[in-house]
Amino acid sequence: MPRLRLTGSEQAAVTTSVKPVAAGGAARDGDWRELGRRVRLLRAVTLLRGLRRDELRVLAEVMRPLAVESGTVLYRQGEPATRFFLIESGTVTRASVETETLGPGDTFGDALLWSGSSFRTTATAQSPCALWVVDADELARVREEHRSLDQALQQLRPGADAPAEAAVPEQGVRIELRGLSQHVRGGRQVLHDVGFSIEPGELVAVVGGSGAGKSTLLDAIAGVRPADDGAVVYDGVDYYDNVAAYRSSLGYVPQEDIIHRELPLVSTLRYSAWLRLPSGTPGSEIERAVADALEALDLAERSGTRVGSLSGGQRKRASIAVELLTRPRVFFLDEPTSGLDPATGAELMRQLRRLSNSGRTVVLTTHTPDDIRICDKVVFLARDGYLAFVGTPEQAKQYFDVDGFEEVYERLGVEATPEEWGRRFAETSEPVEADGSADRNGGPPPSARASAGTVAQWWTLTRRNLEILVRNRLTLAIVLGSPVLVVAMLAVLFQPGAFDFASPSPSTTLMILFWVAFGGFFFGLTYGLLQICTELPIVRRERFVNLGVVPYVLSKITVLIPLLLLVVVLMIGVLRAADRLPAAGFGTYSSLTLTLLLDAAVGLALGLLGSAAVTDPTQATLVLPMLCFPAVLFSGAILPVPLMTGVAEVLSYPISTRWAFEGLGRDFGLDHLFGHGGSKLGPPLLAQYGDSFSHAVWINWAIMGGMTIVLLVATCAVLARKCRTAGS
Ligand SMILES: Nc1ncnc2c1ncn2[C@@H]1O[C@H](COP(=O)(O)OP(=O)(O)OP(=O)(O)O)[C@@H](O)[C@H]1O
Ligand SMILES: [Mg+2]
Repeated sequence: MPRLRLTGSEQAAVTTSVKPVAAGGAARDGDWRELGRRVRLLRAVTLLRGLRRDELRVLAEVMRPLAVESGTVLYRQGEPATRFFLIESGTVTRASVETETLGPGDTFGDALLWSGSSFRTTATAQSPCALWVVDADELARVREEHRSLDQALQQLRPGADAPAEAAVPEQGVRIELRGLSQHVRGGRQVLHDVGFSIEPGELVAVVGGSGAGKSTLLDAIAGVRPADDGAVVYDGVDYYDNVAAYRSSLGYVPQEDIIHRELPLVSTLRYSAWLRLPSGTPGSEIERAVADALEALDLAERSGTRVGSLSGGQRKRASIAVELLTRPRVFFLDEPTSGLDPATGAELMRQLRRLSNSGRTVVLTTHTPDDIRICDKVVFLARDGYLAFVGTPEQAKQYFDVDGFEEVYERLGVEATPEEWGRRFAETSEPVEADGSADRNGGPPPSARASAGTVAQWWTLTRRNLEILVRNRLTLAIVLGSPVLVVAMLAVLFQPGAFDFASPSPSTTLMILFWVAFGGFFFGLTYGLLQICTELPIVRRERFVNLGVVPYVLSKITVLIPLLLLVVVLMIGVLRAADRLPAAGFGTYSSLTLTLLLDAAVGLALGLLGSAAVTDPTQATLVLPMLCFPAVLFSGAILPVPLMTGVAEVLSYPISTRWAFEGLGRDFGLDHLFGHGGSKLGPPLLAQYGDSFSHAVWINWAIMGGMTIVLLVATCAVLARKCRTAGS
């Protein structure tokens, strides 16, 4: 193995991809761009997170580039600690009792920073590497000149007894899969007896053709869609039986974005932190978690940007940042690099490499061969979820006898059946226990970390809903503008004085009351219909962490009911002012307002139920007529209930516009107006409507209140079923 002698003459041997403006010394004037680049490199280093920009700049000035070949030994265990290294590209292992693989953004030789006297490990380049080096004498010089840097570096010291190398890494989860099988609707098997293990801190790519079962496998390992046979074992503990205990130790990033596009990035992270961290977490800690997550994914500068305005790669990193808030020990990502350009995808992979280097276990699916190279392990799935190979990327090339991973796809597709690939690999690999039981010596699962309680969730979600509503100006304009337009149309349509006792217009009074009742229901329905289906991936993800469906649904109505009250008051107020509704006392109008509000609440609850039941906004729009027509046809206004068929009469019972219409008729005394008013049409019309307007209004309220509750309960049930995961 070639050994690098790091002496003063090494400069001659050094080549690097960067302009060597500051090699061996301070950057000259005019080299600020290069210096800025180095500062950015240093800012991404976890270990140096506590340092200010000006302190990092001092370090950046004394960094010098160093390019080394694969196999170069950079230092040996026990040698005097004279250099500190930062990896810009390539991989390095440092080994003592255990071997650790480091990648871009990682540092080694950290002993130097806290004045460790000797290296505790041996560091070896595993590929051609572009490194940055800070020498002991240069470091000593700048520490002397810059007291604040010296103090900041002293603060980095992890503690008197801590090992000389690196801060204590996070402990990743060891995962073992035993005989995982999965069937989908129709009985087709999409995973076949998949078994392998993943070590803590490994970066693992699951690869295979489209439809091979990658997402299914990922979801089964994460417990998002548990496998129907076999076992997933985390650190020796059966995961499916202990999902709750691991919920906050797990980060899961599905292919869809799991953040609201309407909000600024920092707001969306804050709401997630409030939801996911325990109730009572101080604001300062929430802010720190948010700042750390932004910093770790290099998004600090974009924190004020609306999520919808971020680029695809930034949005993907933002989704990962949300997951980082709870400092998970294991990360699952479904095709994180799909849709990104190669450079952005590679950068994202480096971020994931850094996460795994910090000790976390990271499992991802991908279609991009370049993503595989940076991983520790690659899992190839053949069609129908047969396990075709598990091992390092290099071993995969040997196993499939190929030069590039693209060829593996071809071989998997044409050379043998999926069963055959599965059988071949099973014969060459060690059998994995498939008895479905966890290790006896696995130890207890971690105790579940507390997260926000029901009331805190409701309050956070309510504030989030409100901010989303207010931030989206166009939506807000439509939400508030459409009732205004409809009320204006009603005012234009009907002549005034329809309720005048001396000369009433019974047909007009009936139509005014019906359309007001329908208006309340319709606005409730349309407000509710897009609430859930537009954020289903987010709800699913949050539900998997801890989100309760009850606080979620309650938060929706907490924001929308006051809005509907505003709409109802607007309708009544404008129509009364324009004399389309008659003069009446405060009691009558209060009763009217409550009737219409309950009517709107039924519409809202029905809208929420529809929104929970469909899978996307297009379907929600398509169900709108189906939900509106019955409210017109069976309301008992267009066709009086006594004139309906028996079946229609039964169908009119669960129609809120019927109860609202009849309640309004009762409040305005239609019986009296039609029976004794000055219109000859009144008595025959009244005969047709029968006793429609003679019930006590509270009965109508009770019916509509009951319907609202039933529909809200149904919404919760549908949502809970839809977001069902292991352990829930
Ligand atoms: N809910 C479901 N109902 C029926 N079939 C399903 C369901 N989910 C997945 N499948 C089927 O299971 C197989 C594996 O799907 P999966 O989404 O895991 O594939 P994938 O490898 O992730 O594909 P892609 O690369 O396209 O994302 C596919 O044939 C798919 O049609
Ligand atoms: Mg997939």
